[in-house]
Amino acid sequence: MSKPKITMNNLEDVTKSLESNTLRVCVIGIGRIGLPTALSFAKSGLETIGVDINKQLVDDINSGKFPLKDEPGYEDIFHSVIKNQKFSATTNIENAVHNSDLILLSLPTPMDENNIPDYTALRTVASNLTEILSPHSLVIVESTIEPGFIEDEMVSLISKSGRLTVEENFFIGVCPENANPGEILHDFTNLPRLVGGINPDIAKIIKVIYNFVFSVELIEMPNCKTANAVKLTTNVFRDINIAFVSELSLMFEKLGIDTNKVLEAAKKKYNFQIHYPGAGVGGPCLPINSYQLLNTAKRTGSNLSIIEYGRKINEQMPEHVVKLTLDAFNECKTNMENSNILILGVSYKPNVKDVQLSPAEHIVRKFQNLGVNVHIYDPYFLSTEVFGIRVEENIDDILSKIDAVVIVTNHDDFKKIEISSFNKMKNPILIDTRGIFDPASVKHHKIIFRGLGRGDF
Ligand SMILES: NC(=O)c1ccc[n+]([C@@H]2O[C@H](COP(=O)([O-])OP(=O)(O)OC[C@H]3O[C@@H](n4cnc5c(N)ncnc54)[C@H](O)[C@@H]3O)[C@@H](O)[C@H]2O)c1
Repeated sequence: MSKPKITMNNLEDVTKSLESNTLRVCVIGIGRIGLPTALSFAKSGLETIGVDINKQLVDDINSGKFPLKDEPGYEDIFHSVIKNQKFSATTNIENAVHNSDLILLSLPTPMDENNIPDYTALRTVASNLTEILSPHSLVIVESTIEPGFIEDEMVSLISKSGRLTVEENFFIGVCPENANPGEILHDFTNLPRLVGGINPDIAKIIKVIYNFVFSVELIEMPNCKTANAVKLTTNVFRDINIAFVSELSLMFEKLGIDTNKVLEAAKKKYNFQIHYPGAGVGGPCLPINSYQLLNTAKRTGSNLSIIEYGRKINEQMPEHVVKLTLDAFNECKTNMENSNILILGVSYKPNVKDVQLSPAEHIVRKFQNLGVNVHIYDPYFLSTEVFGIRVEENIDDILSKIDAVVIVTNHDDFKKIEISSFNKMKNPILIDTRGIFDPASVKHHKIIFRGLGRGDF
């Protein structure tokens, strides 16, 4: 027999159900963010079920295989909540939703090939919920969405069948996720979270729930759209600032100014917030978030040209990496066509296994179009193929066959490489797009060097 349903707009009921661990949680979408979220809820003592359309992922989870090896701290939690039966996974959304009081949506919000945000997963699940959501449930959207998406789309999709009326017999709010891949446990237990509800009472209930699970500062926003506006503003701020320093670094290169030295000194001023130039900006957040705000601008007849321009700069940085490499080949009077170039790092950010929208892919494709034989080494992708290329097992074995090394990702492992090992290369050419190596020491080793934004040495 199913347990009695908790009325999720009743603060007293919700508080009691948390204290007695009777509140049942369903997390739909158990990927990079959803799985750690589900594990956190289960760890707090609440019975939690994860729903995903990826059957392999669900089978792996249920057979005790932890899928997020690059998320420190979660593997032990995973085994413990599986063992004490607080957490399991399923592909059966209907049963899971029916037996839950709280439904969290951690569904992907990617963009299509024309950079248009794609909310298919959220729309599909909302269209399901209209048929299967039990009355008096609370839905919390953790996915990154545009301001207004809850009010303008989710509410009407969930109400469509006529069974459910928002604020009467179903409730909705947001708690946008802002954790960094590779640091999710740290971020979940330290970073403040934004909370928005369909009304202020729901926002308070969401605060009580998240306080029970995460014990972090919870910032109550006046409504859902304001909470989502904050989430996008913080990420787009980073995208624009990276574009600013990247464009600046192109000019500093011509002036023989080391951008890193400029930035390190600039950050001594209390109101300067440091961002670093690089080979481009990728990942599941920053580029998409900029296009989400641009989409909102279009929808509302507004103008966000600074975001548009910032995106253009960040998207042109891979081309600059290829130009730096060509320049280095010209210096040693060698043809780049038919050469062998080793890309160090394909992840879009350091110390994670993730190539979503990584600038590395653009760099690889551009080199291939110029007739280069591209090789890849990335410690997070050993024994796999990335962008159709078999990843090398170690750097040392391949260096003697390589003409140039291009560092694209600043994984910590690369900081441990002895500069002298690059002398095993034929030419040797080193392109550092992440400021790992000091140009003066590289030059001392007679390596032809180009550092992105680091001037002419
Ligand atoms: N990854 C990050 O760094 C990060 C950080 C903050 C916020 N976010 C946001 O969190 C949300 C989730 O991102 P993610 O990185 O966890 O994505 P992800 O791709 O890792 O996980 C999403 C999961 O949802 C599943 N899924 C897709 N459609 C489904 C459906 N119809 N029903 C059930 N499951 C379905 C997928 O199989 C996948 O396992 C996005 O909105 C993203 O922008 C991500």
